[in-house]
Amino acid sequence: MTRGADLMTEKRSSIHGQWSSRFIFILAAVGSAVGLGNIWKFPYITGENGGGAFVLVYLVCIALIGVPIMIAEILLGRRGRQSPINTMRSLVQDEQAHPAWSLLGWGGVITGFLILSYYSVIAGWALAYVFRAASGAFNGATAETIAAQFDGFLSAPLSVLAWHSIFMVMTMVVVARGVRGGLEKAVTFLMPALFVLLLVLVGYAMSLGAFSEGLDFLFSPNFEKVFYHCEVTAAGVEQCRFTGEPMLVALGHAFFTLSLGMGAIMVYGSYMPANASIARATFAIVAADTAVALLAGMAIFPIVFSNGLEAAAGPGLIFQTLPIAFGAMPGGQFFGTLFFLLLVFAAWSSAISLIEPAVAWLVENHGMKRVSAAVLMGVLAWILGIGTVLSFNLLSGEEFQLFGKTIFDLLDYLTANILLPLGGLFIALFAGWIMSRSASMDELRMRDGMGYKTWSLLVRYISPLLVAIVFFNAIGII
Ligand code: PFF
Repeated sequence: MTRGADLMTEKRSSIHGQWSSRFIFILAAVGSAVGLGNIWKFPYITGENGGGAFVLVYLVCIALIGVPIMIAEILLGRRGRQSPINTMRSLVQDEQAHPAWSLLGWGGVITGFLILSYYSVIAGWALAYVFRAASGAFNGATAETIAAQFDGFLSAPLSVLAWHSIFMVMTMVVVARGVRGGLEKAVTFLMPALFVLLLVLVGYAMSLGAFSEGLDFLFSPNFEKVFYHCEVTAAGVEQCRFTGEPMLVALGHAFFTLSLGMGAIMVYGSYMPANASIARATFAIVAADTAVALLAGMAIFPIVFSNGLEAAAGPGLIFQTLPIAFGAMPGGQFFGTLFFLLLVFAAWSSAISLIEPAVAWLVENHGMKRVSAAVLMGVLAWILGIGTVLSFNLLSGEEFQLFGKTIFDLLDYLTANILLPLGGLFIALFAGWIMSRSASMDELRMRDGMGYKTWSLLVRYISPLLVAIVFFNAIGII
């Protein structure tokens, strides 16, 4: 990069404002990262993918892929100081790179929009459960009655649609007010409160006979069980074959849970104060996110096993397990209400980051007001969300499925397992290969020491290779 360009980029500042301190940046990014992915999705995909070995692969993906790519994404955002689309465009100019790299910003906007459509529906389930818990519906309930309540809830599309609509409106309101309004204050208190409540739930789980069974499921890896699918043939012979699919799900989830690969963290990075250390912020965000997911698993699996439930129950898992705990524990009505309320807040602070890249771009390039941009994106995602609402009732039948997947399954698979890893791969390649060393060192406030060298190695070789191998293996190319 030329000296002139260097000076130019240093002067950039965001027209959307800045976080008031580096601590607030960390909180906002934790707000984006910690959400349904940790408490709803991590437990159910762990259950579906056989436990320990899957969790181990997930943790390896977080460390070797998530951490370096999060550093890369924040770095690009703070360097560009605009919406991901314009950030990529400016960085492409700074580095005189091929204009096709700008597509990265576009891909992110589309991915965020697709994720928001179903994210809001599941957050709507959590919202409904706040009121259910408060009404005392779980008190003394058994696993069967809780399951029946959940099935009954899902089978009424209009009420699920209503909760989806309320959540989407909540999201639009915060995004319309801008990054500083409301969100900062909310995350300061609510994230720590959610953490404490999870500890309470783990405390309850410890009192169950199946606590060690739950931990075993979560932490003892059994690679054969997870990566070999066995079938008994017509001749009565057992045939086992290797499957890379759980690895793809673990990889995709590492991106999903850290909000990586689509510009959410990039746009938050663009509001980051110039003096904050990107690497340190990343470690804090990743540690908090991972801790929340593991705590959620430690609370849920003991309940699953002590009630003889199915670990592979799918997306309904937390709604069928945690209410049993709330129904049985002292003060459960209060804790249950608070828990679902905090889960809604966690989902809220994530949903906001899903449309912020698109909204920031509409404001920058089309002179739109934040309010109009937020409403436009929210309404579009709401409409697409109807497909997910119906995936659990009217359109759940096989005749409405494609490749054996409902609309929700397809959106989830496409975004988490394909688009986010691809976005992350290109972010890593751009930061590692296209951006000059002087620019990345400057933005990371690092010298050419061990820290920078390790990051550079990870982002240039290790993460792209791992993503490519898992990805191509799962889609059957290698
Ligand atoms: N990280 C969020 C969660 O775990 O719930 C979901 C998410 C938010 C994914 C923002 C992607 C994103 F850009």
